[in-house]
Amino acid sequence: MHESGTYVQMTLPNTASKRSRGTTKVPATASATVLPDIKPHTPTTRLNREKHRSSTLVFPVEDVAPLVGMAPTFVRKATGQGTLLIVDHVLDLLDMDAFAETFVPRSMVIDYLVERASGVDHSDHVVPNPTTFDVRTGHAIDLLRSVPASTVQCLVTSTPYWGMRVYDESYEATWADGEVCAYGHEQTPEGFLRHTAEVLHAAARVVTDDGSIWWNVMDTFNTRTQIRASAVEALRAMEGKDSKKWADHVARRYSAGHSYLNDGEQVLIPSRIAERASRMGLYVKSVITWAKRSSLPEPQNSRVSRNLEYVLHLSKQRTPKFSRAGYHDTTPELGGRNNGWETEKLSDVWTLSTSSGGDGHGAQFPTALPGRCIALTTEPGDLVVDPFVGSGNSGVAARGHGCAFLGFDVSQQYVATAKEKIAKAPTPPKPDATAQQSRDR
Ligand SMILES: C[S@@+](CC[C@H](N)C(=O)[O-])C[C@H]1O[C@@H](n2cnc3c(N)ncnc32)[C@H](O)[C@@H]1O
Repeated sequence: MHESGTYVQMTLPNTASKRSRGTTKVPATASATVLPDIKPHTPTTRLNREKHRSSTLVFPVEDVAPLVGMAPTFVRKATGQGTLLIVDHVLDLLDMDAFAETFVPRSMVIDYLVERASGVDHSDHVVPNPTTFDVRTGHAIDLLRSVPASTVQCLVTSTPYWGMRVYDESYEATWADGEVCAYGHEQTPEGFLRHTAEVLHAAARVVTDDGSIWWNVMDTFNTRTQIRASAVEALRAMEGKDSKKWADHVARRYSAGHSYLNDGEQVLIPSRIAERASRMGLYVKSVITWAKRSSLPEPQNSRVSRNLEYVLHLSKQRTPKFSRAGYHDTTPELGGRNNGWETEKLSDVWTLSTSSGGDGHGAQFPTALPGRCIALTTEPGDLVVDPFVGSGNSGVAARGHGCAFLGFDVSQQYVATAKEKIAKAPTPPKPDATAQQSRDR
């Protein structure tokens, strides 16, 4: 995948490509913490076909493919073009599969391509990758753009889930679909899927050809509910210990007004993310069930309780770097087989305890989870990145496996916690030190 600047610019038409927002009235900004009531409106206009017809810009097939949600091979076959496409080709592709958006709504794809082609630099200055570890504060997409392309062997992360948590500090990002909101606080699940696809697009650029992306995500029920800061708060509420009224909660999730999801229905977010990743050219290698050893009680009597989360394993090629030995040779704390609960065979069901919490972060994964992903798909010295690093457990796991690590989070407080925690993480002895020790014996 390419960054801006890779488009071939023959001549530039009028590039003042402000996205047209149409006549539908949309809120200027969405609050970072309040999810607005779902209304059947759209922030996008219909595709303005005439706007770019006279454009002489051409776009590489590889850059268009993830935007139209098709494989480069299919794009070549469908357009009869080997490497470069003109606007008319892109319009033809959009017409072929009119609703299959990835992260840019169909009506905005040409504008997006033209804006990128016109040399608008969305990237910050490039930061060198660390040889030990580094944790930076900022929006995941901005910071991913500052990472050199194809340098990350393993990207492992747990993003904010849709409409589930209020974090201590939030950041209102401006997304490619025009929405302005904190990640996870989208008005609809569809908004969350687009934004997730946008982060994945930025993530894929930095991953090496044989690298892996591991994406931990939970599903959400389409229900009207208050959104709290932690599982402990949610539990207190279930026990009737929350004295706050509905309106007192700064963050609330609404379900009414969605075009097809009923109130109380499971949204199926993980599988929809997997589908978009596939549309953007990534291989969906596995959809792993993380069977948790414990989970919160759920106050309902019409369905079974949930005891699982999902981990998507995505790659850029069919055979990423992968070694099952990591499952057998690693301690359980760093992701090895959880004896007594897991079988000899490494399967797509992982039975791991939840994090014991602490560090003031209410949504941590256990170190063993990123630890296993790293054990299976890296070697010592490789670079691991977590763009939503939270309290730093992925960094602890990466250092434990002898990898370099780069973490991002919008919260200064979490970044400080993560830095402190990762600095204290045990690292394996250097190979030459081990050899020296055995010679000394
Ligand atoms: C599920 S938590 C990650 C927890 C982490 N895996 C751990 O074990 O502590 C998601 C994190 O994403 C951060 N976050 C939310 N929006 C972000 C954004 N746009 N860019 C970077 N980080 C963001 C939150 O502050 C939160 O710490």
